[in-house]
Amino acid sequence: GGPKPLAGKTAVVTSGPTHEPIDPVRYIANRSSGRQGHAIAAALARLGADVTLVSGPVTIPDPAGVETVHVERAEEMLEAVVSRLPVDIAVMVAAVADWRVAASAGQKIKKQPGEAPPPLVLAENPDILKTVGHHRKRPKLVVGFAAETQDVEKNGRAKLERKGADMIVANDVSPETGIMGGTRNRVKIISAKGVEEWPDLGKEEVADRLAGLVANRLAGT
Ligand code: C5P
Repeated sequence: GGPKPLAGKTAVVTSGPTHEPIDPVRYIANRSSGRQGHAIAAALARLGADVTLVSGPVTIPDPAGVETVHVERAEEMLEAVVSRLPVDIAVMVAAVADWRVAASAGQKIKKQPGEAPPPLVLAENPDILKTVGHHRKRPKLVVGFAAETQDVEKNGRAKLERKGADMIVANDVSPETGIMGGTRNRVKIISAKGVEEWPDLGKEEVADRLAGLVANRLAGT
């Protein structure tokens, strides 16, 4: 049931963390649960969009009504997203690791008695949102997230510009907010139109409102 304002539209959504291998058994990760990104993918699908969700490693189930592609590393996530272009809508929610291990080991790194710990040399990961925001096949609507622990609005505005996004959903992920890994979210929607502050909501409700906003923007309202 319900109206389908996104019928005939395609969308790609990223969600969850990425895992960046150190060796075959160890990795660098972050505390993202995938709850917000998965909820957004499902909400867009409920409004009729044909949605591909590119998910990093999460413990939550694949959402209903969505094609879910599972990846581990940022480079794999980028490849999966770019291979879906062109699409009408991109919502990049994943907490992509900023760095990967420059040369991950093919075999488990062994602890050698008496030897110093191995150095972890990092390399910068591709920025998926920025790549999509400046792509030749740029989606009509590009939405990014900004998880900050300070100057949420200022950083969100800077991100809008730098990443080539139409909208940034900014939130404060300071540990005391309980947002990262939690079920609730309090966001500000930053776009060329200005800033809209939403109250503290469940992540499902944030997803539904955002899907509605996406539909309105595509309709030009
Ligand atoms: O620069 P920062 O990581 O704070 O930007 C957050 C936004 O950029 C989120 O939408 C996130 O999904 C996206 N991002 C990305 N690829 C990266 C880093 C961030 O898509 N390597």
